[in-house]
Amino acid sequence: MSDQDDHDRETDPSRRRMLSRLSMTLAALSSAVVGVPVVGFVLGPFTKRVKEVWRDVGSLRDFEIGETVKVEYEDPSALPWAGVTAHTAAWLRRNGETDFKAFSVNCTHLGCPVRWIASADLFMCPCHGGVYYNDGTVAGGPPPRPLPQYPVRVHNGLVQIRTSPIPLTVYPERKDEA
Ligand code: FES
Repeated sequence: MSDQDDHDRETDPSRRRMLSRLSMTLAALSSAVVGVPVVGFVLGPFTKRVKEVWRDVGSLRDFEIGETVKVEYEDPSALPWAGVTAHTAAWLRRNGETDFKAFSVNCTHLGCPVRWIASADLFMCPCHGGVYYNDGTVAGGPPPRPLPQYPVRVHNGLVQIRTSPIPLTVYPERKDEA
């Protein structure tokens, strides 16, 4: 065996180790180069602070005292690719001259859209039978909390709802949980 063969046998493991480290470093760098922008693109809209906005939902004279109607408006947290889902809605109830309540259309159980049944004076959820009174509190079924409410105001003869970005994180507590 030549001196050259002995020398190669001695240097090979360290060269292999160095090449292995180099390839791992390059793999980590290329993952970061590709991964960071992708993660930023996916999570960016969820971490961006979205301002609450007052949305016009109709004129004061459009709503009858004692009635609950669905009003539609543009979602304040709409993503650029949201399409028709950028339009959302709330149930608006007029209790007095300027006394309005606006409820989320989504059930607090698993988020199905609730319907207003005027003849029963109740909100009903078609998914699992959740029922809410006309003030949004739970009347029966699986919903754990009342329907979330949005602030409402009358401004220059227009009824406005202060919309929040979804998901709604603040729910009023259910009375029987206290
Ligand atoms: Fe409404 Fe289940 S989603 S009761």
